[in-house]
Amino acid sequence: MKPLIEKAVFPIAGLGSRFLPATKASAKEMLPVVDKPLIQYAVEEAYAAGIRQMIFVTGRTKRSVEDHFDTAYELESELEAAGKHELLQVARSIAPDDMTCVYVRQPRALGLGHAVLCAKELVGPNPFAVLLADDLMVGPAGGGGIMQQMVSQYAQWRASVLAVQDVPREHTQRYGIVSGKDVADGVVDVSGIVEKPKPENAPSTLAVAGRYILTPGIFAELEHLPRGTGGEIQLTDAIAQLLRREKVFAYRYTGTRYDCGSKLGFLQATVDLGETHAQVGREFAQWLAGRAS
Ligand code: UTP
Repeated sequence: MKPLIEKAVFPIAGLGSRFLPATKASAKEMLPVVDKPLIQYAVEEAYAAGIRQMIFVTGRTKRSVEDHFDTAYELESELEAAGKHELLQVARSIAPDDMTCVYVRQPRALGLGHAVLCAKELVGPNPFAVLLADDLMVGPAGGGGIMQQMVSQYAQWRASVLAVQDVPREHTQRYGIVSGKDVADGVVDVSGIVEKPKPENAPSTLAVAGRYILTPGIFAELEHLPRGTGGEIQLTDAIAQLLRREKVFAYRYTGTRYDCGSKLGFLQATVDLGETHAQVGREFAQWLAGRAS
């Protein structure tokens, strides 16, 4: 049976200015948390949700992402010749045989909305997922990943679904903020969405995290959108327009989000995922505990 959501868009053409100097010549999405680049966590999350076609919207400095998901013949034959089968498996598992990767360029960083619009032809006429790799999302132990939870919600509502979380009111200026009515456990029927409102103007404290399932109706909205906050074409503004024509739902996901586009979030992810890492977790946790005492 065909999966409900077949394609995922990964906008990775941003400038990553909050992470300078690391991001001057290298892709933010290739920063590794423990041993895996951010983009691989996001691709694995989409794959676990049944998605097999990955569409990357790339920009300058992002060549390494293409290389990462390409076959590395030289590396593979060296590992094979040396009998390093476990490492060979690790290298091969980055891009399973049934997964395809395609790339489209965003010529200038004109905003997240513009980046999504660049994928229009590749996405085609069906609903699709959007994952922002700098939001590293970890689902509950033994449970489904965040995108898998979103696909289940899509199956129920057959409309766009936004991943949301409650944030402290003083942080509303960092996010798109939604308002609406609770219609089921953890699900809000969205009536409004605004980009980065001041705490005193925010309609709620429900913030959009970097996971979306969108209907293709979003492209028509993006095409007609004037530039918004910061001179960028904002995805949030297009969703606000879409709301006038279609239902949009917000879903309070179960799990943890690390804002790895910020230095603090990146460090938090490194410590949390380091402590639970299969290979080094125990020793790292002991080392951390030793430092604290
Ligand atoms: P951010 O808001 O994190 O922007 O974008 P940024 O440029 O990457 O980072 P800062 O704020 O300068 O530090 C959210 C997501 O949208 C993508 C980014 O790559 C990131 O995944 N994006 C943003 C684009 O692909 N194109 C853009 O023009 C803007």
